[in-house]
Amino acid sequence: SDHFTRPKALAGKKVVVTAGPTRERIDPVRFLTNFSSGKMGYAMARAAAEMGAETILISGPVSLQVPKGVKRISVESAEDMLNAVKTEYPDADIVIKTAAVADYRPIHAHSQKMKKQAGGSTIELERTVDILQTLGQEKTHQILIGFAAETNDVAHYAKDKLARKNADYIIANDVSEAGSGFESDSNRVTVYGRNGFERIFDMLPKEQLAQQLLGLIVEREDLHDS
Ligand code: CTP
Ligand code: CA
Repeated sequence: SDHFTRPKALAGKKVVVTAGPTRERIDPVRFLTNFSSGKMGYAMARAAAEMGAETILISGPVSLQVPKGVKRISVESAEDMLNAVKTEYPDADIVIKTAAVADYRPIHAHSQKMKKQAGGSTIELERTVDILQTLGQEKTHQILIGFAAETNDVAHYAKDKLARKNADYIIANDVSEAGSGFESDSNRVTVYGRNGFERIFDMLPKEQLAQQLLGLIVEREDLHDS
């Protein structure tokens, strides 16, 4: 379909992308995080900008260049990311939650460096806010897209997240598969949408996959006509 190659299919639209890991502080020199490289999110932002969208990239700490035509807002914790996304949400047309948001954070962020003691230690954790679920509850007109990295029962968990978070699409990848996932330059995903929609994509470089994923959204949501 020519929608996949139409260069300015997202002109006049505002796309918000979150990318990378979050950092949850334990003390001034230590934090909890994950292996997210940010590559998939940055590829999504680049593709959105190339398709003509006003593109805001809300990014956790990663070592990647800001794609051309993209405005980056740098954040650290899940709470920072939630606040930044909420500010951009009301007039956004598409929100793409590629970020690997920490599910837990230390209950106490110590203001001074913790000193080692004899014996073991325990860090008490509490849940962070689920950003995508919050956006799903507050959705007015936005198209909400989540990502899910799973090691097992991919379809089951992806469909559960789609419903629970009131998302329009969940893009799922099996991180147990070689060459796919966090640090990789390529990815193989399955997209799950409302009303049982399902599409399997080939293993592709993240840049190309991002273009195809946005092409699919434009085609299915009829965005090019308004
Ligand atoms: N997500 C979010 N806020 C969180 C946790 C996750 O917005 N606190 C978003 C992610 O950005 C992603 C989607 O929810 O788009 C799915 O994330 P994932 O970690 O796969 O799902 P969880 O609901 O956290 O479930 P679990 O980690 O237990 O599989
Ligand atoms: Ca999670």
